[in-house]
Amino acid sequence: MKNNTISIALDGPAGVGKSTIAKALALELGYSYVDTGAMYRAVTLFALENNIPIDADHQQTMLELAMRKEFRFIFSDGLFQVYFGDRDITDEIRSLEVTRNVSYVAALPAVRAGMCALQRNMAADANVVMEGRDIGTVVLPDATYKFFLTASVEIRARRRYLELSARGISVSFEDLCREIAARDNLDSSRSHAPLRKAPDAVEIDTTDMNIEEVVARILSYME
Ligand code: DC
Repeated sequence: MKNNTISIALDGPAGVGKSTIAKALALELGYSYVDTGAMYRAVTLFALENNIPIDADHQQTMLELAMRKEFRFIFSDGLFQVYFGDRDITDEIRSLEVTRNVSYVAALPAVRAGMCALQRNMAADANVVMEGRDIGTVVLPDATYKFFLTASVEIRARRRYLELSARGISVSFEDLCREIAARDNLDSSRSHAPLRKAPDAVEIDTTDMNIEEVVARILSYME
């Protein structure tokens, strides 16, 4: 059933700048911001902390136990926070361990089905900028606007390298390139809801663009 809310689907691979761009758009338009990757990360953190094996045999248990706790997403003044029950897990879901395991959790069909239902409810309740991998293809095939962002592996690794360096974390650039390429491969090759551009999405190659330019380009498409 179609509803009257406006939805902007923003998809693309890791490190393309989706979160920063989606937040800037949501702030500019006064819409809610939904980071669907954060939802998969929250389930991953839950599975790791509760020693639930990340495999097909445990996906239903993982989903049911995780859903007993309430996920809450708070977007205020351009800041996004994730709560699991009363616990603020905004930083923990970005840990190296969660990042290394999340692609496996996101490949489990039962987990995807649960997250997808939650995401559709969010888009039915409010105008949203929703970012992820399968928003334009699976979650909101009737989204009002669809954008697919791309950028070369090298530029995405360089952006991540600078971001980590600024936080005092030292990593090798070559390792980052390899990790990003591996995650792209896992996200694009899984059988359920792989990372893919929807046929009706507008593709924007952000390799030579800064955040402001991408936001301006998206807003100009919407006009
Ligand atoms: O955007 P991110 O790095 O926080 O996403 C974390 C993982 O979740 C990444 O491996 C891709 C996956 N993901 C997904 O499969 N579908 C989505 N809609 C969002 C993220």
